Amino acid sequence: MRVLLFALLEIVLFPLQLIGSLVYSFRVRFVNMPRGISGTAYEPYMTRLLLHHIGSRNDGGAERIAPHLPALSPLVLRSMMDTLVLAARWSGFRGSVLAYPGPRPSTMMTFISHRTHFFDSAVAAAAAAGSPIRQFVVLGAGWDTRSYGPLPDGADLRAPAGRGSGEALRCFEVDEPPTQSAKVEALRAAGVDCGHVVFAPTDFNQQSWLASLKEHGFDPDLPTFILWEGVTMYLDDAAVDKTLREVAGLAPGSCVAFDFLSRELVLCRKPFVVLGNYAKYAMKAFYGESWLFGVSTAAPAGERAREFIEARGLALRGFEAFGGEAERGTPLGGLIVAGVPDPREG
Ligand SMILES: C[S@@+](CC[C@H](N)C(=O)[O-])C[C@H]1O[C@@H](n2cnc3c(N)ncnc32)[C@H](O)[C@@H]1O
Repeated sequence: MRVLLFALLEIVLFPLQLIGSLVYSFRVRFVNMPRGISGTAYEPYMTRLLLHHIGSRNDGGAERIAPHLPALSPLVLRSMMDTLVLAARWSGFRGSVLAYPGPRPSTMMTFISHRTHFFDSAVAAAAAAGSPIRQFVVLGAGWDTRSYGPLPDGADLRAPAGRGSGEALRCFEVDEPPTQSAKVEALRAAGVDCGHVVFAPTDFNQQSWLASLKEHGFDPDLPTFILWEGVTMYLDDAAVDKTLREVAGLAPGSCVAFDFLSRELVLCRKPFVVLGNYAKYAMKAFYGESWLFGVSTAAPAGERAREFIEARGLALRGFEAFGGEAERGTPLGGLIVAGVPDPREG
């Protein structure tokens, strides 16, 4: 009944959503892209914003910067986001697409919510009392707002409360210069305090993120948590490899959390020939970007992830497949937490 009501409301509100989508697409193409600002950064961000508005995941920072991001505007937000939220509220429908934590196994439609929850949990563990982590780095930060407000579980990266060391985490964000300066402008325009975050503009394909961070006061001898969400697929194999090897050289106890796409999907091989070709075309046409990197997810995907991580000097601390290994045999990708082994671990 709720699904039906939601579907009916969606049909009625569709013209408004269409207008919003058209204005949004226009702004991505003709306001963002000419300035070199990431278009793909909106994909996970819009999901987090939607979850916030629906009331399933708190993200006040995302809400505050929304009207100040280059591809968004009050018209886009009202017609795309508010209409969907109204349909969900009036119908009471909270299907898996709007759920947080996302369902497992996730699907193509729900994997961003699954991924968001996986990374929220990893960040919360790094920020928790008793954690050895002293620095928090977001690589390819886009419009991520985890450094600017309480996390969904209530932990706050800005506040020392509850942390064993009694010190707040040192926060860093790395992104390509145009995207990063658009974010800083949006944070300032929204009045979001970002004084505790150090911004290190870097293009991973041109420059070492580690060298850039060191120039900005990063201490490689302190245990560090690195969040690398939604980025590896846009880099080439060498850039991913180099990043993981650089993480492996950080202080013991350091961790990196990242996601990857199935290599079979990126290369449009079985069982993703159709989906891979469609996604390749859509990504290029809409965002002008291509998927480059993937790790094979042929069963058993967890073992392949372990081999991949260990070959780069790290230890696998957490793995989840996304996109349903059970249904398809080959998941769409995976989520990883990898740590720098402590020499005392043997
Ligand atoms: C899909 S977005 C993900 C953003 C953010 N991590 C999130 O989950 O909301 C990919 C991000 O990676 C950044 N990125 C892509 N290629 C990069 C490169 N070569 N150097 C630095 N950043 C890059 C983009 O600017 C963008 O912010």
